[in-house]
Amino acid sequence: MGRAFVYVILGGGVAAGYAALEFTRRGISHRELCIISEEPVAPYERPALSKGFLLPEAPARLPSFHTCVGTNEERLTPKWYKEHGIELVLATRVKSADVRRKTLLTATGETISYKILIIATGARSLQLEEFGVNGSNAENVCYLRNVDDATRLVNVMQSSSGGNAVVIGGGYIGMECAASLVINKVNVTMVFPEAHCMARLFTPKIAGYYEDLYKAKGVKFIKGTVLSSFEKDSNGKNFVTKVDNLQHKIACAGSLLGVPCVVTDVVLRDGTNLPADMVVVGIGIRPNTSLFEGQLTLEKGGIKVNGKMQTSNTSVYAVGDVAAFPVKLFGETRRLEHVDSARKSARHAVAAIMDPGKTGDFDYLPFFYSRVFSLSWQFYGDNVGEIVHYGDFSGSTFGAYWVNKGQLVGSFLEGGTKEEYEAIAKATKLKPVIKDVADLERQGLSFAISV
Ligand code: FDA
Ligand code: NAD
Repeated sequence: MGRAFVYVILGGGVAAGYAALEFTRRGISHRELCIISEEPVAPYERPALSKGFLLPEAPARLPSFHTCVGTNEERLTPKWYKEHGIELVLATRVKSADVRRKTLLTATGETISYKILIIATGARSLQLEEFGVNGSNAENVCYLRNVDDATRLVNVMQSSSGGNAVVIGGGYIGMECAASLVINKVNVTMVFPEAHCMARLFTPKIAGYYEDLYKAKGVKFIKGTVLSSFEKDSNGKNFVTKVDNLQHKIACAGSLLGVPCVVTDVVLRDGTNLPADMVVVGIGIRPNTSLFEGQLTLEKGGIKVNGKMQTSNTSVYAVGDVAAFPVKLFGETRRLEHVDSARKSARHAVAAIMDPGKTGDFDYLPFFYSRVFSLSWQFYGDNVGEIVHYGDFSGSTFGAYWVNKGQLVGSFLEGGTKEEYEAIAKATKLKPVIKDVADLERQGLSFAISV
């Protein structure tokens, strides 16, 4: 059994949605394009899951946030795909790929062949088990990557109202979920190994601002440590799951027999015991590359592509979280885990496929952002080199520049206007020479506006 298409997009997330829109804009015939996704719904704006989806009042629900509403473009509902003759193969996992034969084999046993493949498989959440801690299958332990996870998180959160949540991880998921939990009247303790939150991006000073705000909202921080185990309650009995697998199996035997086990306490490495009605885990991701290992060149944990988003096999492209691409601005290959890069890399790949003569190399300015409570920040470029803070850290508008080898390479701004964000983006892209760092500090945001 099999079907053949000219173009196949493997994965049905953000990048797939934006690629589909680009294909239709450039003109494809009916039944030329197929999207295969493990998720049961058409591509949607994943960032909504840790923001609007978790609101207690008028939460965002599909179909309202299908791609491409995130950039104020068309909302691609299942009907849209049908009208454009795009085959949406949903709730279907691809279990193997053969790039030599140009075929994909689905878990349902169908072989789908392509002329051109776009890999848009994104990433999966890292599991606690990968750090030697068991318990991910407990009823009140939540991860957040897809709509199913988010729906489950909402249910657990609602039943924990007035209770305690322990948030494991101080990155994006940890910070955004902690804010949502507070808004939903759940008491939050955040636990992470670093000295401050958002350690991959924030400076200690920037992190301090957000941590103070979170503390004012009642969030407790336990830093510099990790969890070592969960105490669980299964069938009315308390069990302690240690790193040991056998013990875990015993603890979750109830779960295997259909009796769910529930985490009651989080035990930290220093022995601290935190009572928990629920746990949210955000400890990073791994790109979904496994189907292509040994077939395509990998780099930086992702699938290596050139400036056209083309992999080591000329019929195969990779975009979004899974792609490691050359960032011209830095002169090196990077893999980014952010929505803007997923959207733009997808569009670029389609442009390169449909109009190779007119499509140059992807010239991308890395852009990250987040919104929590009433705060909102944007970051452009790279956070390497000397840090120059500016603005009023006791007020609502402040930021930082990163100066590397005498050039401005990164800019962060909290509480900016649309024009101010555009200004820091433009300035960062231009990489102006910075002769006097003290002067840059004095000028602050005005520097970016005047570039
Ligand atoms: P994405 O993960 O969106 O899609 C991958 C798709 O491939 C999924 O549908 C998956 O099921 C499918 N798939 C994988 N393997 C498969 C297989 N073998 N067979 C079939 N299908 C398969 N970024 C940002 O810049 N700002 C933000 O505010 C946020 N917020 C945010 C919140 C939350 C909760 C998450 C999880 C992530 C964010 N992000 C973000 C990150 C952003 O969402 C992310 O970078 C993009 O979704 C990446 O898009 P992709 O299409 O590459 O992967
Ligand atoms: P992350 O990489 O942002 O943060 C991971 C965090 O895990 C680290 O900050 C660290 O504190 C913690 N950690 C690592 N090992 C640990 C351990 N053993 N025990 C406890 N904590 C540990 O990843 P994330 O927060 O899980 O986010 C997942 C993905 O979702 C990322 O790709 C991220 O870019 C994306 N995302 C982005 C946004 C945004 O851009 N606004 C929002 C949500 C999610």
